Amino acid sequence: MTAYDRKQYIGLFGFGVVGESLYHVISNSPSSNADIIKICIKNPHKPRSLPPNMFCHEASQVISDPAINLVVELIDNAEEAFHIVCSALRAGKSVVSGNKKMLATHMDELVKLQEETGAALLYDASACGSIPVIRNLEEYYDTDLLLSITGILNGSSNYILSQAFHEQHSYEEALAKAQELGFAESNPALDVDGLDAVYKLTLLTLHGFGLLVDPDSIFRSGIRGIKPADIRFARERGYRIKPIAQARKFNGNKLALFVMPKLVTPDEYIYNVENEYNGVVIEGTYYDKQFMFGKGAGGFPTGSSVLSDIMARTHQYRYEYKKRRYLTPPAPDNDIQMEVYFSYRNPNDLQLMDFIEITEQYGSRDHYFVIGRVSLQKLFDISDSLSSSGIFLACIRLVDDQRT
Ligand code: HSE
Repeated sequence: MTAYDRKQYIGLFGFGVVGESLYHVISNSPSSNADIIKICIKNPHKPRSLPPNMFCHEASQVISDPAINLVVELIDNAEEAFHIVCSALRAGKSVVSGNKKMLATHMDELVKLQEETGAALLYDASACGSIPVIRNLEEYYDTDLLLSITGILNGSSNYILSQAFHEQHSYEEALAKAQELGFAESNPALDVDGLDAVYKLTLLTLHGFGLLVDPDSIFRSGIRGIKPADIRFARERGYRIKPIAQARKFNGNKLALFVMPKLVTPDEYIYNVENEYNGVVIEGTYYDKQFMFGKGAGGFPTGSSVLSDIMARTHQYRYEYKKRRYLTPPAPDNDIQMEVYFSYRNPNDLQLMDFIEITEQYGSRDHYFVIGRVSLQKLFDISDSLSSSGIFLACIRLVDDQRT
């Protein structure tokens, strides 16, 4: 039997934006050697675009079906998804999933389960939509020369910032449009408060550095507090505002991890990454910087990435998590400093911050900002307060002398 004879008979969970797009993508890719034969859905009353006999409502109807050799999980609820994925792996069926929250919060158990059962779990679609970043980090960046992964990992936040910056749309209008276009999570707080990017950064850190971190240990600050004055500030100084996630080695084998907006200059690769596009800059000793760019959200881009994982199973590809075995993983550490732009409406909010050095300060009747140096640990300590109304925080740069 050649690898190509291994047809994938798919049991699909979920027929939302991505599930339906996957069906369309497979139907229009005649060489794909994969068929969706059953779709398990939650809501039996919702009108569907396929004949009723394609659908079922009990997970066991997919998991126990001997004709199905691959489960594709594309549902919203992370705990239900975890249950489905575990049941499928235990039944010896490999799984493709796009559920970043489920993956980032249960990865330890999922790696063990793959080892125990021999079944595989692939999830390139869970980070950066159509950009093949996980498989690349796993296979190509297979040494300890990797220094940093910096990316726009959330399409919705990038869309909102682009629309506010270039089209003068309000935050609320742009968020509503991101929801309408199917980019945003069903709970968009996950997008705009940075949690979605934290989950994705957890996955990139695992495959890039061989290190599994607790998503709750990553500092995050979202875009909810952005004000027209912040956009004016950025425009006047020649910046664009991008929602970034970063994992960066410093001081030898320490690793700083954070998710926050950044004021980006025209010489940075991600400066022109707009709307729902994502961009990832991979930096290493000897090879300097490389840049991957593509659509990070939306049904068809994500469905295409799911299909790529399905095809990878045709060739029996699996993640080996090799770096966890042979690299000394870097140690997560928040003892790094960065220059930030801290903007606020209530003058008392400045007390929250513990600036090591202030280089610029401005105040008017209803808008204040400070530019200065802070430690990542201090930001982590006050993260809850940073979500207060009117506060917007953006990284300008990491302090250079701490680079590896
Ligand atoms: N809500 C996510 C985003 C979808 O906006 O990036 C893709 O993971």
